Amino acid sequence: MSRTDPARPRAAQIPVNEPLLDGKERDYLLECIDSGWISSEGPFIRRFEEQFASRVGRKYGIAVCNGSAALDAAVAALGLRAGDEVILPSFTIISCAAAVVRAGATPVLVDSDPITWNMDAAQVDDAVTPRTRAIMVVHIYGLPVDLDPILEIAQRRGIAVIEDAAEMHGQTYRGRPCGSFGELSTFSFYPNKHVTTGEGGMIVTDDPALAERCRSLRNLCFRPEQRFVHEELGWNLRMTSLQAAVGLAQLERLDEFVLRKRAMGRAYTDMLAGSRGVQLPLARTEYAESIYWVYGLVLDEGVELDARGAMARLADEGIGTRPFFWPMHEQPVFRKRGWFKDERYPVAERLARRGFYIPSGLALSSSQMTTVATAVKALLQ
Ligand SMILES: Cc1ncc(COP(=O)(O)O)c(C=O)c1O
Repeated sequence: MSRTDPARPRAAQIPVNEPLLDGKERDYLLECIDSGWISSEGPFIRRFEEQFASRVGRKYGIAVCNGSAALDAAVAALGLRAGDEVILPSFTIISCAAAVVRAGATPVLVDSDPITWNMDAAQVDDAVTPRTRAIMVVHIYGLPVDLDPILEIAQRRGIAVIEDAAEMHGQTYRGRPCGSFGELSTFSFYPNKHVTTGEGGMIVTDDPALAERCRSLRNLCFRPEQRFVHEELGWNLRMTSLQAAVGLAQLERLDEFVLRKRAMGRAYTDMLAGSRGVQLPLARTEYAESIYWVYGLVLDEGVELDARGAMARLADEGIGTRPFFWPMHEQPVFRKRGWFKDERYPVAERLARRGFYIPSGLALSSSQMTTVATAVKALLQ
């Protein structure tokens, strides 16, 4: 990652994220360059797709240019269109709702659980209508969504599941890999992810027809037997072999990375335990142990500072942070279209205003973590 990469802000002395790229990344990249195979036709794409899909127990992997594009392709592959409704959490990244909206379908929101910060499975049943075609399950920050109740609803009502596992590399739900639960499941490989390709994404599925459809959508929907002739509109969402080379090297270390992130999460929690006025990330539920994609903090209502104020104070100390997601029902782009008017999702609203995350990247040292924890504690006094 170059020193000018925006994911590594130079102003912060302790960056919010810094990936580890000291495995075989360099060797594999050199293989690409020496062989001349740098485009999406290069051999690392196939290797990365196969190994990634197999790692999450799926038959097919389709590498794309980012996790947002993976969601766009997944929604399009399911044929969702105007009149269809898709249930998803309000507390997520815009990519989820944008994919639904771009397809012409209607996003239907649910609130989040105040403890896990994930979509509240109990609210999903009530959100189902005769128009519901899909539930987009989005795992947030380290713990998976409680999937069983949602999968049960989906099966009982004949609704498709799109699983956004963008943040869940190496995570499991009741022992089964995240990314193995949706008709289509998607990942992101942005540099703050446990596996990065710089920019990148992956769709995984067991359905050969959906896999083929995603491949076609990724590559402009060329007619297979006649290039440059198109029955439908696709996109160019292709990943390069250079990116896949980095991804493959990263994937080889995923187990080690998960162990490291869990150790980092535990260390932060030990250092911050007993701090008043802040909710720390939940370490485990009955179905999963957090992989601490990021280490989030939520300030209690009683604390004078909100997330924005706390982040400004930490920035003064040279500590990089990021705010939590801003809810979909409060997005100006959707409000302007008249959507979500008068809808309230109090947990999502509170998380957005009171939540932020502290440096959590794989390259963070113990002494940097101590500096961060000390600064957070000082903030709360
Ligand atoms: C839950 C979730 N979905 C989708 C995305 C989009 O991925 P990308 O940034 O690769 O487009 C992200 C990005 O962090 C994410 O956290």
